[in-house]
Amino acid sequence: MTKGNIVHVVGTGTIGEPLIGLLASLKKELYIDEVTFSKRTPLLTDRPKVRDLIKRGAKLCVPKEKFSEFKKIDLDPDYENEEALSRATIVIDCTPAGLENKKKYYERLDEVKCFVAQGSEFGFGKMYAFGINDEALTNNDKYIQIVSCNTHNIAVIIKTLAINGEISNLSEGRFLCLRRANDISQSSGYVPSPKVENHGDKSFGTHHARDAYWLYKTIGLELDLFSSSIKLNTQYMHSIWFNLHLNNKIDEEEVKERFRLNPRVAVTHNQLASEVFSFGRDHGYYGRILNQTVVVLPTIVVRNTAEVIGFCFTPQDGNSLLSSMAVIEHALCPDSWNENMGKLDQFLFDEV
Ligand SMILES: NC(=O)c1ccc[n+]([C@@H]2O[C@H](COP(=O)([O-])OP(=O)(O)OC[C@H]3O[C@@H](n4cnc5c(N)ncnc54)[C@H](OP(=O)(O)O)[C@@H]3O)[C@@H](O)[C@H]2O)c1
Repeated sequence: MTKGNIVHVVGTGTIGEPLIGLLASLKKELYIDEVTFSKRTPLLTDRPKVRDLIKRGAKLCVPKEKFSEFKKIDLDPDYENEEALSRATIVIDCTPAGLENKKKYYERLDEVKCFVAQGSEFGFGKMYAFGINDEALTNNDKYIQIVSCNTHNIAVIIKTLAINGEISNLSEGRFLCLRRANDISQSSGYVPSPKVENHGDKSFGTHHARDAYWLYKTIGLELDLFSSSIKLNTQYMHSIWFNLHLNNKIDEEEVKERFRLNPRVAVTHNQLASEVFSFGRDHGYYGRILNQTVVVLPTIVVRNTAEVIGFCFTPQDGNSLLSSMAVIEHALCPDSWNENMGKLDQFLFDEV
């Protein structure tokens, strides 16, 4: 008897928790037979969220040596981690240790169709963002890296304004990522004041433009990109200032219309990240909207007929969740994956 389509998520943090919830809630619609997840540390403070994920139908997996510690806090695991990994059809790593886990566990597991890691894990596998480089996905991709949230944002701004099929109209793209210090669900990493990041990469500045470059390289485009980054002492959303020099003329109305027409872009007239964030809490899934960017329309300016400048907000984890779901559906249902992704349209908004 076939074991069916099993999705296993590693990690229950900012990305892992909503992903497990989303998969468990939409299991039937997305042709998934079983959702399993691994939790490494048995913490009383994490018990409510683990219980809620189990209540939604996901199965708890823990390291073999920690079974009794989880039982002591009244959490009953279904599988130990290594068994869960070997049963899985696809594994989504949502930890900052994807590269380490690849070496330690994943490379030995021939039966698993595909392993996916998240933004910090540069070098894990083929870079991917939904709607940006779909044509780069193949049925033989064993390792995929979902690019970071700000890279999604940079990539979709470029795609909307400067990419036409296989042709790029981008002369150069410059981005300033104004990053929130940490997520509201995280207790470390806060900064007492704005903190600038060094330009560690002399060609691309920070990893955001570097990753966008490699993302587009998977479909044969080599773009001139540079990013800078500063962390702000806020827990709300990342914001990005963008400046695109195009090879063709464009006017403000066309820029705005293109943003309005891209289903993965939301537009807003709101200048406050807190209010855009709050919209997600009120109307999104697990408090998140799954759009790749929220463009602030009144900030859009076109200079010298071909230079576009503006601000946008990054729905930090939402855009990574959407791309993770796309890779899962691509691996499980190669013939209908794009159609299946329509089930998530309810979490994409035109306007915020
Ligand atoms: N936060 C965002 O907005 C965001 C957006 C896009 C992409 N990402 C990317 O997503 C990944 C995860 O980030 P996150 O923000 O979700 O992290 P997080 O909130 O700190 O959660 C990390 C999770 O990973 C688990 N973990 C940590 N080290 C592990 C290891 N060595 N083996 C197994 N499990 C381990 C932790 O488990 P225990 O608690 O049980 O120890 C925890 O559940 C990173 O690559 C990040 O770049 C994050």
